[in-house]
Amino acid sequence: MTSTKAQIEVGYDISNEFFRLWLDEMMHYTSASYLSGKETLEEAQLQKCKILYDFAEMNAEKSVLDIGCGWGANLEYHVMRGTKKAHGITLSTAQHDEINRRKLPGVKALICDYKDFMPDEPYDALQSIEMIDHLCSPAQAREGKAIDIYRTYFSKVAQWVKPGACFGFQAILRNRVPRARKDLADLQFTADVIFPGGLNPRLEELVAAVNPHWEIEELRTQRTSYGKTTGEWLARMQKHEAAIRAKWGDKVYDDYDRYLSTCVRAFANHWSSDVQMKLRKID
Ligand SMILES: C[S@@+](CC[C@H](N)C(=O)[O-])C[C@H]1O[C@@H](n2cnc3c(N)ncnc32)[C@H](O)[C@@H]1O
Repeated sequence: MTSTKAQIEVGYDISNEFFRLWLDEMMHYTSASYLSGKETLEEAQLQKCKILYDFAEMNAEKSVLDIGCGWGANLEYHVMRGTKKAHGITLSTAQHDEINRRKLPGVKALICDYKDFMPDEPYDALQSIEMIDHLCSPAQAREGKAIDIYRTYFSKVAQWVKPGACFGFQAILRNRVPRARKDLADLQFTADVIFPGGLNPRLEELVAAVNPHWEIEELRTQRTSYGKTTGEWLARMQKHEAAIRAKWGDKVYDDYDRYLSTCVRAFANHWSSDVQMKLRKID
């Protein structure tokens, strides 16, 4: 089973104000794309949006669905580019509230599990940024079900778009397994306490699972970009240590400090990576 709504709320519903303190101003909670390495986090997040916009072959006249749309950062990017119909789905009530607060023209967000979603009419394009890591639990992966679960997802979302449509897709990946007991414990902590119910896919599982509905036209990995992104989040959060401890308590601060520090080491040491794919629907 996927992360439940209650599990999603553990990860995303602490408080919008808390995440606003250390994410970029549009509140992307996924890897930015550092292309020169000299960009600010804000600039690198816009570059991520542009890569996925181009992968989706978007233009202002096309409609798009963002599956797992977070606080609406990518939807807001579409509004900046003139998109007139940009829809999103999320499982988080706090994220849905934030998107509605932004009053973005042409944007509609729903609290809906992707499994229950059915569009009124097919979209021209799809995007999904690091939502697939919520679909397969560690127990299901141990039972060998991961590829089937991801294939069910790719098959379902292919029904929501027009023939030949493109999908700008991004996923966090798991790669090597650390050897030291402390590193394993830190990764386990991140999975159990910060993102319960989820598991990062392996690249080869995704490549297998897009078949037979999607063709991979482009694929780029950006492990070091995620290392920089999480490093920036950690530095920004640490600047607000006193305020976070006072408002949300020591446990929240200590948990997020441990989680973000673990992420920085995970990307530096190849335990984790990130992939962006341009997928085209096979009709
Ligand atoms: C890591 S966040 C990424 C948010 C956003 N894409 C971004 O770039 O900031 C994962 C998102 O996936 C959503 N999500 C997870 N499982 C879902 C499901 N089964 N159906 C719909 N949305 C889901 C969460 O609610 C959250 O918005």
